[in-house]
Amino acid sequence: MTASNARTADHPIDRQFLNRWSPRAFTSAPIPEASLLTLLEAARWAPSSYNSQPWRFVYARRDTPHWEQFLGFLNDFNRSWAREAAAIVIVLSKSTFTPPGGAAEVPAPTHSFDTGAAWAYLALQASLSGWHAHGLAGIEREKIRQALAVPDVYSIEAGVAIGRAGDKASLPEALQAREVQSQRNSLTAIASEGRLVL
Ligand SMILES: Cc1cc2nc3c(=O)[nH]c(=O)nc-3n(C[C@H](O)[C@H](O)[C@H](O)COP(=O)(O)O)c2cc1C
Repeated sequence: MTASNARTADHPIDRQFLNRWSPRAFTSAPIPEASLLTLLEAARWAPSSYNSQPWRFVYARRDTPHWEQFLGFLNDFNRSWAREAAAIVIVLSKSTFTPPGGAAEVPAPTHSFDTGAAWAYLALQASLSGWHAHGLAGIEREKIRQALAVPDVYSIEAGVAIGRAGDKASLPEALQAREVQSQRNSLTAIASEGRLVL
């Protein structure tokens, strides 16, 4: 068993997996570009099918010219708290690739899976580096596609808000109650030997 904060793993794992979590209260401290690049560097080393590396990241840091535009890529709910974050990253994934020895692009069935791994690396590096990364499904995909001139072959997967965790008292009351390190389904509910258990 491994325990950390409010979380306990049933099998021994590194504490970093329990320590990573997704706060909404951020301090509004800016992030140096070098620190953000460290998080993206971790994402860069994720594995992918055929080492195709389908992930792309477009970012804006607070107090820089792109910040307000990137805040505008979030839905109203996410913008209400992520405006105190230090960076917003839009995560894209290329849905085709050229196989080794191939001459043409073909569909990449695992591109989202691969890019999900890259985001997870980023999130783990963030918590190891004293930052927090909060995934964002609530983004304006069509707006992003237009504004960043994203070709159709790229999926707009998600956003990520990155910052220093702040005091939950800074959040509206309803969000304060949700500012906890969440639990997980049991391992037996998600992993089974030899047959699928639903
Ligand atoms: C791809 C993805 C999209 C998410 N979208 C949102 C979102 O739009 N708004 C939000 O407040 N949280 C969002 N979350 C945060 C999840 O709710 C959170 O990761 C989950 O409840 C588990 O909690 P933890 O990350 O603190 O362990 C998202 C997380 C991921 C991975």
